[in-house]
Amino acid sequence: MLLTREEMTFDFGGAKLDPNRDRELLEWMFNQFLYGEVTGIQVGHWLYDAPDLEAAKFLARQSLEEMQHVDNFLRIMTMLGCQPRPAHPAVRFLATGMMGGSWAEHVALEMAQGEGFVLQAFYAVIDTLDHKPSIDILRRAVKQEERHVEFGEQQTQKAIEGRPWLRRRLLGLSLVSMWGVRRLAGFMEKRLPAEHPVLGQLPRFLEHANRCAELRLRRIGVLDRPLDQLSGARRAALVAEAYGGKALGGLASIVTLPLRVLPLWPKKKRLTETYLRDSHVTGFALPAAGETASQEP
Ligand SMILES: [Fe+2]
Ligand SMILES: [Fe+2]
Repeated sequence: MLLTREEMTFDFGGAKLDPNRDRELLEWMFNQFLYGEVTGIQVGHWLYDAPDLEAAKFLARQSLEEMQHVDNFLRIMTMLGCQPRPAHPAVRFLATGMMGGSWAEHVALEMAQGEGFVLQAFYAVIDTLDHKPSIDILRRAVKQEERHVEFGEQQTQKAIEGRPWLRRRLLGLSLVSMWGVRRLAGFMEKRLPAEHPVLGQLPRFLEHANRCAELRLRRIGVLDRPLDQLSGARRAALVAEAYGGKALGGLASIVTLPLRVLPLWPKKKRLTETYLRDSHVTGFALPAAGETASQEP
């Protein structure tokens, strides 16, 4: 990875999340993670679009890992007595609404940036949650997430080589996802108790996450200078160019591939909309007495 664990770590100063005192918060948090892992079904879309066999093999393995992560979170939630519930709209926007329209967008925005952000949140939970069985499960999952982020970084570097227009488009789209993170920080600042030892630090944690996102963009080569050297007008132009390009791309596909993108066709509901009613998820919802991480297959 282009950023180290140390660089991505936010110092919570030893503050801890308590499984009993903080159950409500943990339930909210793990439900966001659960949703994120269910969006792993989108890997199937990209497997069909993989540029070479190496990438296809990586994605096939990743899809399996993401589905295992769904079970990891269900297991953690069961141990902590948390119920599966819908994710916050900003999280749904970041994880599904920002789904890439091309291979380059997928590897840059969803893998390098998106999974990079999630990885940072996993590190934060590992560093603060006072519940060893959950931490043990998470420690194994982060090793896989680190590989997903690294793949995203490397594939983005390959994709932008010699294509300055693509670099600008990815930067414009990244600015939007960073705006999404700031919106999430704003929501937390208003709704969460500032006196809580960990929660009070979350807005600063999200600022740190955005700084890491900027650093990652610079190391990949998408961003060629510090973000604060880009004027508001330049940023707006980059976002407009990126979305203009997306809209034109969409128009071209409608003309050339009518059957694939016909917008009038009834839309099938995907697992990201139905997973909370899925028997696999509802079957997990009731805590099994005395279950521990050692019962994991
Ligand atoms: Fe995952
Ligand atoms: Fe992942």
